[in-house]
Amino acid sequence: MAAYEYETHEYDCIVVGAGGSGLRATLGMAEQGLRTACITKVFPTRSHTVAAQGGIAASLGNMGPDHWQWHMYDTVKGSDWLGDTDAMEYLAREAPKAVYELEHYGVPFSRTEEGKIYQRPFGGHTTEFGEGPPVQRTCAAADRTGHAILHTLYGQSLKNNAEFYIEYFAIDLIMSEDGQCQGVLAWNLEDGSLHVFNAKMTVLATGGYGRAYFSATSAHTCTGDGGGMVARAGLPLQDMEFVQFHPTGIYGAGCLITEGARGEGGYLTNSEGERFMERYAPTYKDLASRDVVSRCMTMEIREGRGVGADGDHIHLHLNHLPPATLAERLPGISESARIFAGVDVTKEPIPVLPTVHYNMGGIPTNYWGEVLNPTQDDPDRIAPGLMAVGEAGCASVHGANRLGSNSLIDLVVFGRAAAIKAGQVVDPNAPNPTLNTASIDKALDRFDGLRHAKGNVATAELRLEMQKTMQADAAVFRTDKTLAEGVEKMYAVAAKLDDISVTDRSMVWNSDLMETLELTNLLPNALATVVSAEARKESRGAHAHEDYPDRDDETWRKHSLAWVNGKVELDYRPVHLDPLSDAEAGGIDLKKIAPKARVY
Ligand code: FUM
Repeated sequence: MAAYEYETHEYDCIVVGAGGSGLRATLGMAEQGLRTACITKVFPTRSHTVAAQGGIAASLGNMGPDHWQWHMYDTVKGSDWLGDTDAMEYLAREAPKAVYELEHYGVPFSRTEEGKIYQRPFGGHTTEFGEGPPVQRTCAAADRTGHAILHTLYGQSLKNNAEFYIEYFAIDLIMSEDGQCQGVLAWNLEDGSLHVFNAKMTVLATGGYGRAYFSATSAHTCTGDGGGMVARAGLPLQDMEFVQFHPTGIYGAGCLITEGARGEGGYLTNSEGERFMERYAPTYKDLASRDVVSRCMTMEIREGRGVGADGDHIHLHLNHLPPATLAERLPGISESARIFAGVDVTKEPIPVLPTVHYNMGGIPTNYWGEVLNPTQDDPDRIAPGLMAVGEAGCASVHGANRLGSNSLIDLVVFGRAAAIKAGQVVDPNAPNPTLNTASIDKALDRFDGLRHAKGNVATAELRLEMQKTMQADAAVFRTDKTLAEGVEKMYAVAAKLDDISVTDRSMVWNSDLMETLELTNLLPNALATVVSAEARKESRGAHAHEDYPDRDDETWRKHSLAWVNGKVELDYRPVHLDPLSDAEAGGIDLKKIAPKARVY
């Protein structure tokens, strides 16, 4: 057994991760007087939410008529009927409240002439249950909305006496013998000390695992740490086959060009100068849902109508827009285009390519953020003491495909919901759980084993092999053949972890060891993704299967569950079909959201 000393801390609640959902949960818990600590591997305002550009969806109706039910309808349709109805209703209904709260906390939203929050169009957001024109529903702070939200929530959390453990890396969950989460073991990167955080409620807000792929808009820190910890604790991951490609990553660099660019009037063209989206999505054109736009771009390239010397990307035009609009509404992406593509957006189109952007799948939760440990008899069984929010979680509000600007609203609505639930279930006067030292020892052994790993495969080498495999075999379009190859290759990649080499044995700022720990988190996420994808014999949302081009609700309207422990074991749980409120009580008419063909 590895001998390490550690310091123990007791809190009512701990939150792992300081992005939008983590900070919103931290703030909500601290506001209620719960002793709350936020543990984060990067400085809070460097969390990946800072990169969110275009905005946050809420049916405020500042720019024209809107209704929460229209937002719910669009979310259901965007999810390709895989989202949980209760969670989608909760999101759409609570969104305006959550945005006004942000406004009152101090988020510097862009404004209309009348001083209202400015809202722009985004893909898949419509009026009249998809029968009307596009709606301006996405509330924006220029194209730096995530930045504005993150800084505000961090300031508010400090004001409410939340405590922060910054540049602490969470190694593993501490679990009781009977499956209750008791906190986490974490490593202080700066001084090398180890810490046990004992909590009545642990919230995983660790973000997505975009870096399992070679080209992603996600920060290099998006390594699926929560999913990795959950998998090692014997809990499943849900709907991992659904990986979103954002239509407009900068060609070569992968950096995001916000969908807000098309919301403000930008459009895509192929090598013939054709606005090809008019052909595929005659009504909403460039503002169709992003899985649809990504597929259309890929088809144009495959059919020989890509632009550039190799015909392997597409052009995004903003050069017809007034320079003043670009400067006011899209300053950030104008700068990104200049730096990463050498393009002056007032004069030339930006070269773009669909790029991995978001994981719809994650740790299964209910709409309060409580983590689920489903059985056949009880598919909604709760794992006590554990919550997951934001991209790490799967409520499931995005189903098989997320609409643009529904991520920031997911972060704050469900971060807030987790805090509300914690206020109900956490008793500040109750004692903290008695720590299971066997679980702590197991985590320390794993840490020590990696720290002293003397194999032949460098972490960066193995990570690259995983990224290339995922990029090639779990891509925008998938086939039985590519997925079967992907499964085989990913198992081979994961097996090489036994031969990993870590050369730095120190405890202080050991980035070699930290990246290895991150790789041990990325791998279970990647395995769950490719195995769940291989098993799903239909096309739905972001899972475009060329051998099964149609959605099959009869067989496949169900959530995938993947337990990763060496091999991946799959099972399924039903989609929640019941709304929170029936039509007589002001809820949506279920006929409006009945499954149908998904056209834009
Ligand atoms: O295009 C964007 O600004 C991204 C937004 C989102 O993913 O929600």
